[in-house]
Amino acid sequence: MTTCGNHSYHSSIALAMNVLIIHAHHEPRSFSSALKDRAVATLTRLGHEVEISDLYAMGFNPISDRRNFTTVADSASLKQQREETYAAEHDGFASELVAEMEKVLHADLLIFNFPLWWFGMPATLKGWVDRVFAYGKMYGAGKLYENGVGRGKRALVTITTGGASGTYNGYGYNPSMAEILTPIHHGIFWFNGFAPLPPFIAYSVAHVGDDKRGRLLDDYERYLSTLDEQRPIVLPPMRDFEGDAIADRFGRWMVEARNASELDETRVAELQRDGKILAFWSSRDDDLEPVAWFVLRAEFRKSAEAIAQTLRRGDAAGFVIREITRSGTAELAAT
Ligand SMILES: Cc1cc2nc3c(=O)[nH]c(=O)nc-3n(C[C@H](O)[C@H](O)[C@H](O)COP(=O)(O)O)c2cc1C
Repeated sequence: MTTCGNHSYHSSIALAMNVLIIHAHHEPRSFSSALKDRAVATLTRLGHEVEISDLYAMGFNPISDRRNFTTVADSASLKQQREETYAAEHDGFASELVAEMEKVLHADLLIFNFPLWWFGMPATLKGWVDRVFAYGKMYGAGKLYENGVGRGKRALVTITTGGASGTYNGYGYNPSMAEILTPIHHGIFWFNGFAPLPPFIAYSVAHVGDDKRGRLLDDYERYLSTLDEQRPIVLPPMRDFEGDAIADRFGRWMVEARNASELDETRVAELQRDGKILAFWSSRDDDLEPVAWFVLRAEFRKSAEAIAQTLRRGDAAGFVIREITRSGTAELAAT
């Protein structure tokens, strides 16, 4: 067991793992499919067990309705979570869903492999999530976040895009890739207890030649061979919050800093991964005196001056603090 930030996970990568790849592409000759094939070859060579749900090849039905169930809790009105609770208690899930649930529960590493469509997952994969992660069986009733079914396990997004990497860096016309992946990293993986690994993103594959594609596949092979060196993205655990997740024992601090051009970006990224910086903006690309703003997560009982001192001590990437204020959440928590 390894501890990383707030999280513990099994460092079982070096040992044999059960890997489940959920693959969502309709074309076997696509780059997405090539990544899936390379993952199978690499992970198998490394001694892992690999299982694949090839959603198009399986003809997986993404539509969530009464066909999810063999049981009926309320025939008058379909409330999915109510039916899921009942099905969980009465062995009432459709066999195709039971098979997928078993695969997920058996997996040490979950990989979502898909082309980026409309800043998100193809509908078939979203439908797979909507149907397979069923209330009562896969989440809810105490199974959430660090207590979810993915507790101690990891999950990875592997995507192809049409757009270039620069358009997803957070300063362009597209949203940042971190924002785009939040519904998956936070809303699906971490919500269910899986620690999200840094994503593998093959940018622009729609527009590059065979050489570049070959290099990307080799990069992916290297990445999969070094998963034990990858630090999961740290997201807030429920235990940091009191009661019904309303009051955080830690506070949110809005920090404004000068000299943003001097920032140590690696350190900023580390602080983000560790869940200390929750959001970060900077005017460094188009400003003569660039400023950075960020939301810092730290003890709310500390004074603003104490927080500023900690940052000034150089622990935080070279920030020169101009202003630091406790955000609304912290005030709420303090009352
Ligand atoms: C329905 C649809 C939506 C798409 N949306 C996006 C998008 O939001 N962002 C993007 O960069 N590319 C988008 N694309 C381009 C695909 O991501 C790109 O063609 C694909 O990743 C190429 O890799 P492949 O060989 O794996 O299909 C979209 C393509 C389709 C068909």
